[in-house]
Amino acid sequence: MHSPFKLINKNILVTGASSGIGRQCAIDFSFNGANVFLLGRNVEELKRTKELCAQDVTIKYFSIDFSDLGLLSNEIASICDEIGPVHGFLHAAGIEKSLPYQHLKIDDYQCLYDVNFVSAMEIIKTISNKQYRGDKAKYVLVSSIASVIGRLSLTAYAASKGAMASAVKSLSLELAKKGICINCISPGTILTPMMIKMMDALTEEQRTARKESFPLGFGEPSDISYAAIFLLSDAARWITGQNIIIDGGYTAQ
Ligand SMILES: NC(=O)c1ccc[n+]([C@@H]2O[C@H](COP(=O)([O-])OP(=O)(O)OC[C@H]3O[C@@H](n4cnc5c(N)ncnc54)[C@H](O)[C@@H]3O)[C@@H](O)[C@H]2O)c1
Repeated sequence: MHSPFKLINKNILVTGASSGIGRQCAIDFSFNGANVFLLGRNVEELKRTKELCAQDVTIKYFSIDFSDLGLLSNEIASICDEIGPVHGFLHAAGIEKSLPYQHLKIDDYQCLYDVNFVSAMEIIKTISNKQYRGDKAKYVLVSSIASVIGRLSLTAYAASKGAMASAVKSLSLELAKKGICINCISPGTILTPMMIKMMDALTEEQRTARKESFPLGFGEPSDISYAAIFLLSDAARWITGQNIIIDGGYTAQ
């Protein structure tokens, strides 16, 4: 029986598929019937993600680095030529930087902005072309609760994540004309390699306080992948331009 919540026969591109949230999304999309195309920098880790995915769907990986955005459009176009119509896109690639504003350099802002935000816009420019877009395509960008709340030393990171959340509002209006939906998911603290590295810099006391600040405790990558499955599925056909916060109750306080 057809379920609008499944991703059967959808071709979905996932950035940041070599670890953390992106890897979990790729795995869970595949077990919900999607063909998944893994983008990332570390080929060994992409191979590992492929091994963890369902084996009865198509899984391919492509090595790509967002530090050179000039090449990105062409690289994505040649991937699309190979994989066929793109029905879904999840942008989980991202970098984090915690630094007091007085230590931030122009390059820090630029780098965060390029990897977290501009790369997604470049990819969307290509995959939303008539030539490459699948029917009822849906895009999800992984932003952060830093897009809606303040936290010490996160000025540059928060700006890049806020850019994603604001951009999807305007972009959703243009993409609606093509029948495409786009939304952000903004996670709170999810225990992934990025977050574990950040937590290592905290004292035991600070780590405990951070955990206690989330009414439901820390999140897991699947808390994000399950929401992404919904937003990429036909069940979410009337949801667009939103920033969906998934944070175990943190911003409810
Ligand atoms: N983990 C959290 O608590 C949390 C909270 C809020 C938002 N996020 C966001 O979720 C996304 C995924 O983060 P994660 O926690 O899984 O971290 P992660 O470090 O495990 O994954 C980040 C991914 O981005 C990729 N990446 C980084 N720079 C890249 C570049 N130049 N080119 C191509 N790929 C690049 C990495 O290879 C990796 O696969 C990020 O955008 C992050 O900002 C995470």
